[in-house]
Amino acid sequence: MSSYGQRVFLSQHPLIQHKVTLLRDIRTEPKKFRELVREVSMLLAYEATRDLATEQVPVTTPLAETVGLRLSEKIGLVPILRAGLGMVDGIWELMPSAEVWHIGLYRDHKTLQPVQYYNKLPVNPRVQVCLVLDPMLATGGSAVATVDILKRWGARRIKFMGIIAAPEGIHALTSAHPDVDIHLAAIDDHLTPEPTSPDNPPQGYIVPGLGDAGDRQFGTG
Ligand code: PRP
Ligand code: URA
Repeated sequence: MSSYGQRVFLSQHPLIQHKVTLLRDIRTEPKKFRELVREVSMLLAYEATRDLATEQVPVTTPLAETVGLRLSEKIGLVPILRAGLGMVDGIWELMPSAEVWHIGLYRDHKTLQPVQYYNKLPVNPRVQVCLVLDPMLATGGSAVATVDILKRWGARRIKFMGIIAAPEGIHALTSAHPDVDIHLAAIDDHLTPEPTSPDNPPQGYIVPGLGDAGDRQFGTG
């Protein structure tokens, strides 16, 4: 939990904090950056999935019959393209039976509003819990739009997993979707400024942040 409310979980784990510091470093190359995104995502997922439902199942060990637990809910991983892609693999390794459904959004550079360009969700929801994956929660526009899409689709339980958030993004997501848990590795200070004139468009980057998470993963900056 954090001072932002009962549904905002800020990890205090030293491994996560160590790795986020390396992610922020301007000298971290794309290969290392991708490894770190993968590792931080796995560690965050461990915390974000602690309340998943389980059911009892019989199991035969080499010594005896006993009863164990297995996950009883179907999980959907929903990466927001592009930057969310880097969060998938590590989490998928932890939950190999999860389904992965991609949502493609980019932020319009002038308005910072999300523009959807990809959605291949099946007609009917097939998962009980959706984990929305995106390393950056800046204005919150992309996360809010994705949760809107998932709710219209019929998703009942949605969690957002991000690496770095700005206060503005947390407020936007909790206001629009107060029922969505938000799991984060860091909450930063602010966003780069609002537009002051048509010649000076908004940037909406998280400060101190890590720059553009998509560009830094894919070497496109
Ligand atoms: C980045 C990031 C989020 C979005 C966050 O994506 O990965 O999806 O910005 O900003 P917001 O909270 O203000 O919506 P971007 O639009 O740069 O696309 P990319 O991942 O393809 O680079
Ligand atoms: N998207 C990014 O990749 N970085 C930011 O700081 C804000 C949005």
